[in-house]
Amino acid sequence: MLSQIESETPPPNLAALAEDHYFSANPPPKDLEKHTALAREFINYHSAAGRRLVLVTSGGTTVPLEKNTVRFIDNFSAGTRGATSAEYFLEAGYAVLFLHRQFSLLPFSRHYSHATDCFLDFLREGPNGSVVARDEDAAKMLHVLRKYRDARDRNMLLLLPFVNISDYLHELRSVAQLMQPLGPRGLLYLAAAVSDFFVPPDRMSEHKIQSTDAADAFKKGSSSATPQPPAVEDEETFDNFDSSPKVPRSKRLVIDLDPVPKFLKNLVEGWSPQGMIVSFKLETDPAILVHKAKYSLDRYQHHLVIGNLLATRKWEVVFVSPGNPDRWIRVPFRKAGAEGDGKAVEVEKDEPLDPKSLPEGEPE
Ligand code: PMT
Repeated sequence: MLSQIESETPPPNLAALAEDHYFSANPPPKDLEKHTALAREFINYHSAAGRRLVLVTSGGTTVPLEKNTVRFIDNFSAGTRGATSAEYFLEAGYAVLFLHRQFSLLPFSRHYSHATDCFLDFLREGPNGSVVARDEDAAKMLHVLRKYRDARDRNMLLLLPFVNISDYLHELRSVAQLMQPLGPRGLLYLAAAVSDFFVPPDRMSEHKIQSTDAADAFKKGSSSATPQPPAVEDEETFDNFDSSPKVPRSKRLVIDLDPVPKFLKNLVEGWSPQGMIVSFKLETDPAILVHKAKYSLDRYQHHLVIGNLLATRKWEVVFVSPGNPDRWIRVPFRKAGAEGDGKAVEVEKDEPLDPKSLPEGEPE
């Protein structure tokens, strides 16, 4: 009888439980409502026009160590992949909802924001006290400016910022759900570098983590405002995992992180079940990249995983999709001087090349 009841009881949906738990425990960003309203208006506008729309996620998520955040863990991503891809999506006729890490690279301005020490390097004084682009930059700047103005004037680009992992996941879920009516005309292109570990709110310090116990006297209501020197530690208080450096544990900052739930499954099955979903897989070890990309595709059952290695991500990626052979895209390096500007052609511009035709050597 018991086994009959057990077999009739549907198994708990663990992904849904993890989602409920995460989103109720981690507060939404303060601008979520405002962002959701902007996203809804943008999606409805382009949906009514029958246009394809892509959500591009870009840049790295932070992991705060304190609720009033002074310190946080970050990652390497500058948002190059996302900002560059967004420009090519616009060129291909997509409306682009650009969910990006605040102050990371943006479409169009990326050509100037991190390219020199300062954007002022691109300018010079013109006639009658005016400011103009330097002669050598003017043609390219005009080209970029026209594209930027066109995207802006035709309402083709919506920029929504996030900072930490919880902001990102709240925003991603809301936008993905809003994109449902687009069906397969909605593309989700997940290029953000998403944290795998975080400090859950119930273990997060409210205020700045202290490096001395000087504040304890105030907290305990001591009449003396002068911090007392810390007690001399005896051998027993050196309960470190290792013996070197020999610093008492009370003075070390030991960070204990929980895994961030993998929400790709929820995205594919619940938030945007009809959408086209492209995820990225980042590794540093070439030996496991394709294997991990295939594993991800197998596990989440979406449309495409684009694999890339930290060291070579700017000029080679591998496309892994169900039922197709792996497809590498590599871009050549234009040599400095007469042949070009000494930069790699952008790999986001999808023009597959015969790898055998590539020049020797590696860009940058
Ligand atoms: O910004 P750039 O400097 O140009 O760098 C671009 C890039 C290398 C960041 C980009 O091309 C890239 O690879 N982005 C994905 C990085 C990443 O998060 O990789 P991952 O292997 O940790 O995660 C793989 C996928 O799982 C991602 O699509 C992510 O959205 C998803 N994920 C990750 C963590 C998590 N807790 N839940 C998830 O669903």
